[in-house]
Amino acid sequence: MKLPEEIKSAIIAAGQEHLLSYDSAELAAQLCAIDWKALPELITNYVLRKPEVSIPDDVKPAPYFPLVPRNSAEEERKNAAFAKGEELLKQGKVACLTVAGGQGTRLGFDAPKGTYPIGPVSGRTLFEYFAQSIARAEEKYGAPIKWYVMTSALNRSATEKFFRERNNLGLREDQVFFFTQGTMPAIGYDGKLLLASSDSLALSPDGHGGTLLALRKSGALDQMKKDGIEYISYFQVDNPLVPVVNPLFIGMHALENSEMSAIMLAKTNAFEKLGNFCICNGKLEIIEYSDLPAELAESRNPDGSLRFISGSPAIHVISRTFVEQLTASGRLKLPWHRADKKIPCIGNDKPETPNGVKLESFIFDALALAGKTLVLEGNRAEMFAPTKNPTGVDSVESCREMLIARDLRRLKAAGVAVEDNVKVELSPRRVFDDADAIEVVKELKLAKLTSGTNAVIPE
Ligand code: UTP
Repeated sequence: MKLPEEIKSAIIAAGQEHLLSYDSAELAAQLCAIDWKALPELITNYVLRKPEVSIPDDVKPAPYFPLVPRNSAEEERKNAAFAKGEELLKQGKVACLTVAGGQGTRLGFDAPKGTYPIGPVSGRTLFEYFAQSIARAEEKYGAPIKWYVMTSALNRSATEKFFRERNNLGLREDQVFFFTQGTMPAIGYDGKLLLASSDSLALSPDGHGGTLLALRKSGALDQMKKDGIEYISYFQVDNPLVPVVNPLFIGMHALENSEMSAIMLAKTNAFEKLGNFCICNGKLEIIEYSDLPAELAESRNPDGSLRFISGSPAIHVISRTFVEQLTASGRLKLPWHRADKKIPCIGNDKPETPNGVKLESFIFDALALAGKTLVLEGNRAEMFAPTKNPTGVDSVESCREMLIARDLRRLKAAGVAVEDNVKVELSPRRVFDDADAIEVVKELKLAKLTSGTNAVIPE
């Protein structure tokens, strides 16, 4: 591809003429995809200046629907929501969406994160966990559940190859829809776009906020509309504990006419690294843990509990029509978030300190654009085991422990006597929820698990 003259002029006008020193078709295609009009402002506001995070004076903790109803009205609302969610699932109005376009730098795994073998006993991969759970939920509700998987340009082909080689993870060909998020060029501290090589800019995925526009551009939204899908169950690829569809959450979202809803978890301490649900200027927003001032993070209610108790595990229900409205113009104005990174580039192939900026948008910033939102408290032990690091906090280790603990809890609740030192994994293809665990225990006539057991159930 040759660079059109008007793009050349735009590049020069944006002060980026160093990009014209190389003659490469691949680079030219990347340069043509950039919004040159918007770029200079972006560079000024996010790179040359460090954007100040301003917390409004009237910031308040966001209200939420509690895990345990406090009165009979809440109890009734919860029951009605659960029934509604099941009804919507039976009507095939719900699709799953997994964001799997991240680079997984902290995990340090040299393949798409979804292909990580997380199963504590089986070594089942993250993608397999979700695929099998979706297949079981579909069986349970007797209606199709499609799975939209967002990748980045960097991991799309490796992700698709993984699915192909494993027989589409047992799902139907037309059940899985891959789509690719956008990319953003990395920018050096001098405001110049960085080149990874003479053939390519240093590009990175544009953040999970890129999901919304990518849904439209890929045709996924149109496909959802054709299939009669109204609600999107959104979760992250590194959280295998998440219920792929949550009838209570979906039903509450629908009954409240919410456009975008969020699960909140009670934070374990004032500075836990979760985004904080807040009301700012009357709108629901998530303020990142690093941006919430310490005096607010530590402030307490008269009963001693944290005022800003609500942390975000990045689990959402989003109405399809909301995404359609947001992206109708083919553009979406979510704020950018700056991350200072070590970016290998021409002239500095192994930077030892950060040498530039990557810009990302975040899906939760869409909450402030919704007319109606809802926050529902979730049970951490049943839905959030992020796999960010190899060991320690939010790691492969802690995730596996939580998966085992959840499955042991299910088995005990189904009447199984469990000795110490037992490692089990309930197969997600057979066990979607507590009721399934009870059935499996009955079928297998399982009464006891003795010390030393290391098993997938059913095998
Ligand atoms: P993280 O913020 O944890 O990023 O993504 P990451 O890239 O997976 O890991 P690190 O920070 O490099 O270690 C949270 C979720 O959002 C997805 C990720 O795949 C993960 O499911 N994500 C993130 C995208 O889909 N695209 C992005 O551009 C960024």
